[in-house]
Amino acid sequence: MDPNNPNKKDSYFQNWISVIGGILSVIFFTVILFLSFLDIWSKEINPYIGIITYFLAPAFLTLSLILIPVGALRERAARLKHGTVRRFPAIDFNNPTHQKWAFTTIGVTTLFGLFTVFGLFRSYEFTESQTFCGRVCHEVMKPEFTAYHNSPHARVKCVECHIGPGAAWYVRSKFSGAYQVYSVVMKKYSKPIETPIKHLRPAQETCERCHWPQQFFGAVEQDKQYFLPDEANTEWRTRMLLFVGGGTRKFGKKEGIHWHMNIKNKVYYIATDEERHVIPWVKIIDPEGKERVYVDEESGFSAASPPPGEIRRMDCMDCHNRPSHNFRTPVDAVNEALSVGEIDRELPYIKREAVKALVGEYASEKEAAAGIRESLKAFYESEYPAVLKEKKDSLARSVNTVVKIYKSNFFPEMKVSWKAYPENIGHKDAPGCFRCHDNKHKTAGGEILTNDCNSCHIIMEQGKPGAIESNTGGLEFKHPDEDVGEAWKEMNCFDCHSGEIA
Ligand code: HEC
Ligand code: HEC
Ligand code: HEC
Ligand code: HEC
Ligand code: HEC
Ligand code: HEC
Repeated sequence: MDPNNPNKKDSYFQNWISVIGGILSVIFFTVILFLSFLDIWSKEINPYIGIITYFLAPAFLTLSLILIPVGALRERAARLKHGTVRRFPAIDFNNPTHQKWAFTTIGVTTLFGLFTVFGLFRSYEFTESQTFCGRVCHEVMKPEFTAYHNSPHARVKCVECHIGPGAAWYVRSKFSGAYQVYSVVMKKYSKPIETPIKHLRPAQETCERCHWPQQFFGAVEQDKQYFLPDEANTEWRTRMLLFVGGGTRKFGKKEGIHWHMNIKNKVYYIATDEERHVIPWVKIIDPEGKERVYVDEESGFSAASPPPGEIRRMDCMDCHNRPSHNFRTPVDAVNEALSVGEIDRELPYIKREAVKALVGEYASEKEAAAGIRESLKAFYESEYPAVLKEKKDSLARSVNTVVKIYKSNFFPEMKVSWKAYPENIGHKDAPGCFRCHDNKHKTAGGEILTNDCNSCHIIMEQGKPGAIESNTGGLEFKHPDEDVGEAWKEMNCFDCHSGEIA
C-alpha cells in the first residue's frame, strides 16, 4: 500500500503469503491434474502415484489455498490497525473490472469444486482397492496378500470382509485405518499382527451377504491323500463325508456342522486366552429357549461361576478364522504337492526331507530359498548319490516346488506361518473343533458335548492304494502309521500332530 495515498485500494491479496500460496496452488493443481490423467490412462493403479495424487498433493493444495486468505486477512488486519480500511469491499456489477473478477471467481470455484468431488471419489475408490490394502503396506500385509491370492476369495475385495457396507463402518475403518498407516510408518505394529482382530465386523454383515446360512444342508465329500515320512513316501487315502448341513429344519434334521449357525440357535462362549484357543465355558440357547451350559470339567469353573472375560456369540469366524489367509502347514502343503505330482514321490524320503527343509530357521525369504536348496541337495548327495544323478531334472523340479511352497506360506520378515495363525477348522494339527468337542465339556447333568467320531463326518474309504477299505455307512478311523495303533483313542490328534512330522 502506498502510505502517501491511503485511498488507493490495493488488493489485500498483494502480500507475500498470499502470493506464495497462489503460486504453490497452481503448481500442486497442475501436478494433480497431470497425475490424474496418467492414472486414468494407465491400466493399473500404482500405489505410490495413488498416494501422491489422492492424498499428498490434495493435502498440500489445500494448505496452499488456505495460505491465500490467511495472507489477505493478515494484510487487512495490518491495514485496519492503520485505519485505512473500509469494513466491506463495494462490489458493483456494472463495473467491468468487478464483473470480470466475479465471473473468474465463480468459474474457478466451480472447477475446483468439481475437481474436489472427483478427487474425493477417486481417493474413496483407491482406499477400497486391493492395491491400497495389500501393496501400500507392502511388507506388513505381504503374508495376507499372498495367501489371499491363493484362496477361494481371491476375487472378493479385502473390504468386503474387513469393512462391509455402510457409512458408519466406513468411517470407523478409516479412523482405525489412519492409525494403521501411522503405525506402519512408525514401525509400531507387532510381528505377527495380533489376532483375533478385536473389532472385526460381525459375520452377519459380511460373510452372510454372500453365504446364506439357511442354505447349508447335506454333506460335502473330502478326498485327501497323505504320505508317510518313510523311504517310499507311502501313500494313504481318506475319503470322508462332512456333514455341513444344519441351516434350517426344512432341509433336514437337527444336525450338521452349520447347525450352530441356525439363526434360532445361539451358542455363547468365554475364552480364557487372547487367542480364543482355551474355551472352558460354553452355553447354548436352543430354539425353545432352553439353556444348556457345558463346562470343561478340568477347568474348575462351573455353570454358576463362569470364568472372567467377555461372553462372545459364536459366529462364522470362530471356525472359519482363515477363510482368506490360510497359511498351510508344511505337512499339508507337501502332501498336496506330492498328490498332484509337483513333487516327485519316487524320490526316497522326499516327504520327510521337504518338510524338514521347510521348517528350518530362516531370517528372510532369500535365505530360506538358499537354505532349502542346500539342505535337500546335501541330503541326496550324502544318502542317495545315484538318485541325484538319475533323477536330476525331477529333483530340481521338486526342489523348486518346495521353495514355492515356502514363498506362499512362510513370511519370516513378519514372523508369519501356520504356527502364528492356526486354523480352527478340524482337529488334527490344532484344537479347532476340539476346543469345545473334546469329551471334557459337560453339563451339570452329565451330558457331553459330542466327541463321537461320526457326528461331524464319516469315513467312507481309507487305506493304502490297493488295500483300501470302504463302507459308505462309515468306517472306524484307522491310523495310517501302524506304530501309533489305537493311541488316537486315548489322545487327541493334535497332542502328536502340529503340522510338522509327528
Ligand atoms: C473372505 C473374507 C476376507 C477377505 C476377502 C480378506 N480378509 Fe483379511 N481376514 C479375514 C478374517 C476372518 C481374518 C482373521 C480374523 C481373526 O482371526 O481375528 C483376517 C485377518 C487379516 C489380517 C490380520 C492378520 C492375519 O493374518 O490374521 C490382515 C492384516 C488382513 N486380514 C488383511 C487383508 C487384506 C490386505 C486383504 C485383501 C488383499 C484381506 N485381508 C482380505 C477375512 C478376510
Ligand atoms: C463378496 C462375497 C463373499 C463374501 C463377503 C464372503 N465370501 Fe466366502 N466365498 C465367496 C465365493 C465367491 C466363494 C467361492 C465359491 C466357490 O469357489 O465355489 C467363497 C467360498 C467360501 C468357502 C468355501 C471355501 C472352499 O475351500 O471351498 C468358505 C468356507 C467361505 N467362503 C467362508 C466365508 C467366510 C467365513 C466369510 C466371512 C469372513 C466369507 N466367506 C465372505 C464369496 C464371499
Ligand atoms: C462350528 C464351526 C463352523 C461355523 C460356526 C461355521 N462353519 Fe462353515 N464350515 C465348517 C466346516 C467344518 C466346513 C467344512 C470344511 C471345509 O469346507 O473346510 C464348513 C464349510 C463351509 C462352506 C463350504 C460349504 C460347501 O458346501 O462346500 C461355506 C461356504 C461356509 N462353511 C460358510 C460359513 C459361513 C458363512 C458361516 C457363518 C454364517 C459358517 N460357515 C459358520 C464349520 C463352521
Ligand atoms: C465354542 C464351542 C464350540 C466349538 C469351537 C465348536 N462347537 Fe460344535 N457345538 C457346540 C455346542 C454348544 C453344541 C450344541 C450341543 C447341544 O446340543 O447341547 C454344538 C453342536 C455341534 C454339532 C451338532 C451335534 C449334534 O447334536 O448332532 C455339530 C455337528 C458340531 N457342533 C460340529 C462342530 C465342528 C465341526 C466344529 C469345528 C469346526 C465345532 N462344532 C466347534 C459348541 C462348539
Ligand atoms: C466336532 C466335530 C468333529 C468330531 C467330533 C471329530 N471330527 Fe474329525 N474332523 C472334523 C473336521 C471339521 C475336520 C476337518 C475337515 C477339513 O479339513 O476341512 C476333521 C478332519 C478329520 C480327519 C482328516 C484329517 C485332516 O485334517 O486331514 C480325520 C482322519 C478325522 N477328522 C478323524 C476323526 C476321528 C477319528 C474322530 C474321533 C476321535 C473325529 N475325527 C472327531 C470334525 C470332527
Ligand atoms: C501318539 C501320537 C499320535 C496320535 C495321537 C495321532 N497320530 Fe497321526 N501320526 C503319528 C505319527 C508318529 C505319524 C507318522 C509321522 C508323520 O507322518 O507325522 C502319524 C501320521 C499320520 C498321518 C499320515 C501322515 C500325514 O500326512 O500327516 C495322518 C493322516 C495322521 N497321522 C492322522 C492322525 C489323526 C486324524 C489323528 C487323530 C484322530 C492322529 N493322527 C493321531 C502320531 C500320532
